[in-house]
Amino acid sequence: MSSALAPVITIDGPTASGKGTVAKALARQLGFHYLDSGALYRITALAALRDGLDLTDQGALAALARSVEIDFSAGRVRLGEEDVSQAIRREEVGKAASTVAVYPEVRAGLVARQLAFRTPPGLVADGRDMGTVIFPDAQLKVFLVASAEARAERRSKQLMENGNFANITTLLQDLRERDRRDSERVTSPLVAARDAVVIDSSYHSAAEVVERIMALARERGVGL
Ligand code: C5P
Repeated sequence: MSSALAPVITIDGPTASGKGTVAKALARQLGFHYLDSGALYRITALAALRDGLDLTDQGALAALARSVEIDFSAGRVRLGEEDVSQAIRREEVGKAASTVAVYPEVRAGLVARQLAFRTPPGLVADGRDMGTVIFPDAQLKVFLVASAEARAERRSKQLMENGNFANITTLLQDLRERDRRDSERVTSPLVAARDAVVIDSSYHSAAEVVERIMALARERGVGL
């Protein structure tokens, strides 16, 4: 059945493990589509914050997840007409995203949108549950990890590049808190799929990680 579907490479892992950079570069090299599933949770959270929704109201959040107007064209992220590419990267939006992502109904509300990205010639999907829940039949699954310290450093650099300042100790605390929430939730927790290749990027550049995954893709005949 899956042979009729376009090939998928899933890149899962904790926050700031370098998934986004690696997944985008892979998609570019392979000429594949790219799904940033975290952006879907971030947009839902941003819309909820703006609408003043109660972040414990699962029903209202799920309705929002199903109805929110999201557009990923031309490398930008839009909520309705508005370009929110920068706004969704703010720390408080990331935190709210991991709060709303705990609810099974919210997750279910975003499934169809994610599956719709799987079109020829193929897809690189980045998230937490891409290989375990959304694309369990993916041709190649990668679980990208890095030490909390390496990830806090990267996140701090990223924020500074966008003109935001963040204290490294606070970042480290937030990161651990988010890891805990993502790993301990009952629905789609952050775990490596049994058939995932685990790669530690603490001491490797994004380019080296991409090279390693490209080699794995070649071995499996993905994207050739
Ligand atoms: O990857 P990113 O940091 O942008 O994701 C924001 C939040 O969305 C994560 O902390 C996580 O709680 C949630 N998320 C998720 N499942 C995904 C992608 C993101 O629960 N597939």
